[in-house]
Amino acid sequence: MKGLILSGGTGSRLYPLTYTNAKQLIPVANKPILFRVIESIRDAGIEDIGIVVGNTAEQIKEAVGSGSRWGVNITYIRQEKPLGLAHAVKVAQPFIGEDRFVMFLGDNVIQGGISNLIRQFATSDWNSQIVLTKIEHPEQYGVAELGEDGRIVRLVEKPKVPPSDLALVGIYMFDRYIFEAADSIKPSWRGELEITDAIQWLVDKGYMVHPYVHEGWWIDTGAPGDMLSANDLVLEEIKYIVDGYVDRDSKVDHRVTVQRGAEIINSIVRGPAIIGENTRIINSYIGPYTSIDHDVVVENSEIEHSMVLENSVIKDLEARIQDSLIGRDVVINRSPIRPKALKLTVGDHSKIGIL
Ligand code: DAU
Repeated sequence: MKGLILSGGTGSRLYPLTYTNAKQLIPVANKPILFRVIESIRDAGIEDIGIVVGNTAEQIKEAVGSGSRWGVNITYIRQEKPLGLAHAVKVAQPFIGEDRFVMFLGDNVIQGGISNLIRQFATSDWNSQIVLTKIEHPEQYGVAELGEDGRIVRLVEKPKVPPSDLALVGIYMFDRYIFEAADSIKPSWRGELEITDAIQWLVDKGYMVHPYVHEGWWIDTGAPGDMLSANDLVLEEIKYIVDGYVDRDSKVDHRVTVQRGAEIINSIVRGPAIIGENTRIINSYIGPYTSIDHDVVVENSEIEHSMVLENSVIKDLEARIQDSLIGRDVVINRSPIRPKALKLTVGDHSKIGIL
């Protein structure tokens, strides 16, 4: 089997973080979502992985490279425009050839591996396997309606009135008939060739599409709230290792990872939390469910339930930062210069809540 990861698209729902960066490279618990996806495909025993890339191709190539770091071979597949998931499948046909394959959306995070699912599909005669999960607001996703016999009756993309609470998770398994399906469908109201429609085509033509209902958590990191939720869930599951330096005046909980070269000086870190490589936490409080990425400085400040990305500096704040997503190379500090006022240089689409 082969693996196909979709990492094209624009990530507009995550602006401004994704103006300058691919959304699949935003780190959850200090590791890019895309790396987590590669690892879960590799752990299922697949070595040939294609990544569909768009505008952010160069960044993705630079971050991922040849795949040797994970012991896999990565092939990059250019999609000129984000014309839909089924369009991405068509573009990937020369890479896939006649093989069966698993397609994983590069912005999805799922609990547990996919090894069992892949094994099940590899040894079955099914033409496709899709992953479903019960959620509260299925209208934002593809939604499946199952019959009493458990078979798929209907699949709809982002329906106003969902026929069930079963959303399509961004993990799909296919054989070569998906290419015929993708060639046969028309663009949807949003102008995209929908994978949901292509799978419906398979169902209508009598091909065997097996629905697997996933019981653990699943997050599509499309929006900032989802990113923090994904970070919360992943922080609960990482291995907690202290590789960095913690001084005698600091208190670090047992559910905390301190990565190599990090320094915790006269500070409190409550878990679950992760402090990135070469980051310095000085006279500060880091509360539960916080990821501080590499090369960050936090000094005389308090941060809780937040994500701070690489190379940022947070200094001398009176109020605690909470429920926040702070991008790369950001500086937040208190200035002693009068008049006492907020001085902001804020990118387009930023959201700031002030007391
Ligand atoms: O996350 C699960 C949902 O993903 C499913 O429930 C839906 O049925 C499915 O259509 C999809 O919906 P989204 O609207 O969330 O897809 P999004 O546009 O966010 O794209 C998902 C990933 O695929 C993302 O990493 C970008 C990439 N992509 C997207 C498009 C439209 C491509 O590589 N090429 C594309 O043309």
